[in-house]
Amino acid sequence: MALLLQRIVWPSRAQLNELHALCCKAPNYWLITEGKRMPGRDAIAAWFDGSELPVGRSIGDQHIFAILDGETLIGVAMALRGWRYPEQAQIGLLLIGEPWQGRGIGREAYQLLEREIASWPGMQTLRIGIIASNGPAFVFWRRMGFAETGERRRDISFLAETRFLEKRLPLPDTRSAAEIPIAGL
Ligand SMILES: CC(C)(COP(=O)(O)OP(=O)(O)OC[C@H]1O[C@@H](n2cnc3c(N)ncnc32)[C@H](O)[C@@H]1OP(=O)(O)O)[C@@H](O)C(=O)NCCC(=O)NCCS
Repeated sequence: MALLLQRIVWPSRAQLNELHALCCKAPNYWLITEGKRMPGRDAIAAWFDGSELPVGRSIGDQHIFAILDGETLIGVAMALRGWRYPEQAQIGLLLIGEPWQGRGIGREAYQLLEREIASWPGMQTLRIGIIASNGPAFVFWRRMGFAETGERRRDISFLAETRFLEKRLPLPDTRSAAEIPIAGL
C-alpha cells in the first residue's frame, strides 16, 4: 500500500466532516482514553483554530496530516513543531481507522511522519504523550523506538494520566552518494 501524508492547514467544511467520520471509525480509542465513543465535531475543528496550542506555539507550528490510501482517508497524524524544546516536535495523535488497523499501516504512516519531521531544520527529538489507559499504544510506540521519560501529567479530560515517551531522530545522512557503501560490496 502506498500511503500519502497530505498536510491540512485550513480545512473546508467537507474536510472537517471527513476527519470527523474517520475518527468515528476508531471508537475504541475514544472509549479507552475519554470514555466516549466519538469526539464532537467541535473537537476536530479545534485542532485547526489554535485554541489548544501551548503558549508560544502558533498555527504555523501545528502540522496536521490526512493519511491517504489513494483517495481514501484512512488516518490522521499531527505534530507540533518546537514543543517542548525548539529542537523537538510533539506528536499529538496518530490514528488509523479501525478497519485498517493491524496491517502495518500505522508503522508505515509513522515512518512517513518521522521522515517529514526529520526534514525540518534543527529537529533532534520526538515526544509523545500517551493516555495510560491506552495500553496498546504503548506497545506500538515502543516498537517505533520510543522510550518512557518518566514525565507524567493529569488532564481531567482524559480517563487516566498522560505518560510521555521520547525518541532521538536519526542523524541526517550527510555523506555524498560516492561515500555510501553499496550493499553486498
Ligand atoms: C496505534 C495505531 C496507530 C497502530 O497502528 P496499526 O496500523 O494498527 O499498527 P501496525 O499494524 O502498523 O503495527 C505496528 C507494530 O505495533 C504493534 N502493535 C500495533 N497495535 C498493537 C496492539 N493493539 N497490540 C499489540 N501490538 C500492537 C504491532 O504488533 C506491530 O509490531 P511489529 O511490526 O514489530 O510486529 C492504531 O492502532 C491506532 O490508530 N489506534 C488508535 C489511536 C491510538 O491509540 N493512537 C496512538 C496514541 S496517539
